[in-house]
Amino acid sequence: METSVIPPFSQSQPIMPFPWLLKTHTSEIRLFGGQVTSWKNDYGEELLFVSSKANFKPPKAFHGGIPICFPQFGTQGNLEQHGFARNRLWAIDDNPPPLPVNPAIKAFVDLILKPSEDDLKMWPHSFEFRLRIALGAGGDLGLTSRIRNTNTDGRPFSYTFAYHTYFSVSDISEVRVEGLETMDYLDNMKGKQRFTEQGDAIVFESEVDKVYLAAPSKVAIIDHEMRRTFVVAKEGLPDAVVWNPWDKKAKAMQDFGDSEYKHMLCVEPAAVEKPITLKPGEEWKGRIGLSAVPSSYCSGQLDPLKVLHG
Ligand code: BG6
Repeated sequence: METSVIPPFSQSQPIMPFPWLLKTHTSEIRLFGGQVTSWKNDYGEELLFVSSKANFKPPKAFHGGIPICFPQFGTQGNLEQHGFARNRLWAIDDNPPPLPVNPAIKAFVDLILKPSEDDLKMWPHSFEFRLRIALGAGGDLGLTSRIRNTNTDGRPFSYTFAYHTYFSVSDISEVRVEGLETMDYLDNMKGKQRFTEQGDAIVFESEVDKVYLAAPSKVAIIDHEMRRTFVVAKEGLPDAVVWNPWDKKAKAMQDFGDSEYKHMLCVEPAAVEKPITLKPGEEWKGRIGLSAVPSSYCSGQLDPLKVLHG
């Protein structure tokens, strides 16, 4: 098992391998954007989608991996779409405040982002954003974000947030998502109107861009063809965004292949509907945990209302 961090501009030179770990789950993280760009299982199979047209160079995050959306999800005011954190150079955090010991974690790396002078002009708040990326013994990938308000003038700040996770799937038409049935959602394609999901698991036949509200703490993505189920666990993040651009939007995105929408699905643990507010000195923590299991592992237990809550 190995995690590695890749500095900006380089595509191949890991700077922090963990050579004492012998198994082969791997993850790769770029300092630009603090973006996870790869998560592989024991067989070396890539579990995250990264567009073949991705441009890994600054100043913009590419479509794939796990971009971090902060201090906003979406587009409001002067800030760039999905906030600036995904478009900034993060640093290795050599001395992070401790997190509770988790014996399941076998390798991790800590990153930190603080605002630049230019960031402060756009979003006038001082913060420390600490991100831990960790691989577990079974190959699970976990990201823990800690955001602290370091304003010295007594002002609170509010933000929205998402782990914009791109899963690699065999064929979007054959994929279903369980755990979000009966949930309320805001439909980004219909002016953020609120609807309630009806019926069975969610399947995909056209563009989807929905923010599920107060979503359960676990959601499953079942890929029939791969016989693989991704389990997406979240803590501190009430919502879950589900996005697939489908054909027209895929064609409109410059750094995205025309038919690549067939092989990706974003399920994004998020805090969108109700912004998080921090007073000076306060810290927020939000976590995503990803595992990939054979679909048979879950079979017969996939009623999310019974199994995936809690
Ligand atoms: C999703 C949003 O999370 O991200 C979509 O719900 C958006 O509305 C998509 O189009 C991609 O955004 P971007 O900025 O990475 O192209």
